[in-house]
Amino acid sequence: MPRPGRVLISEAELQTRIAELGGEIARDLGRERPILVGVLQGAFVFMADLIRATPIDLTTDFIGVTSYAGARSSGQVRILSDLSVSIEDRAVVVVEDVVDTGLTLTYLKRTLEARHPRSLRVCVLVDKVERRAVDVRLDYVGFAIPNVFVVGYGFDYDGLYRNLPYVAALESD
Ligand code: IMP
Repeated sequence: MPRPGRVLISEAELQTRIAELGGEIARDLGRERPILVGVLQGAFVFMADLIRATPIDLTTDFIGVTSYAGARSSGQVRILSDLSVSIEDRAVVVVEDVVDTGLTLTYLKRTLEARHPRSLRVCVLVDKVERRAVDVRLDYVGFAIPNVFVVGYGFDYDGLYRNLPYVAALESD
């Protein structure tokens, strides 16, 4: 059974970097009352810390999408639970846990752009640059990491380990 192993991003490193990201978002969108859209489920822990590090008027919502498995994916991603409010003419920040191939985010951006937001930015905690299959613009990036499967701080393996306060590599024993 694979277990969380080496810590890649400690609790302190997470909080320091998230404070910086919140500061950047506040500087860029301070007057726009943005809506931060968390992508379920993985981003909910990051989202909770990020909004508390972003000292401006903002609102929040969540969107649930299917994750596909493997490189043979068609790139067709399905919305499992939609936003509860309109984003028309809103400054939107999509908050994602990880960008891997980039296919999920590309689909999501296309879907949200079609709803005519005033602006659409992306904030991602972890970027697996090596794995990118499609080019997608990221506005705020927490950490670039190598191609390892991670758990903790919202990241799961089979639903487990989201509650760890740090990001660790999944290791088999
Ligand atoms: P992408 O479409 O390939 O960029 O994949 C993004 C999705 O894959 C994420 O939203 C996660 O659900 C999942 N994922 C990718 N890498 C990891 C990981 O290391 N741990 C947990 N989930 C991951």
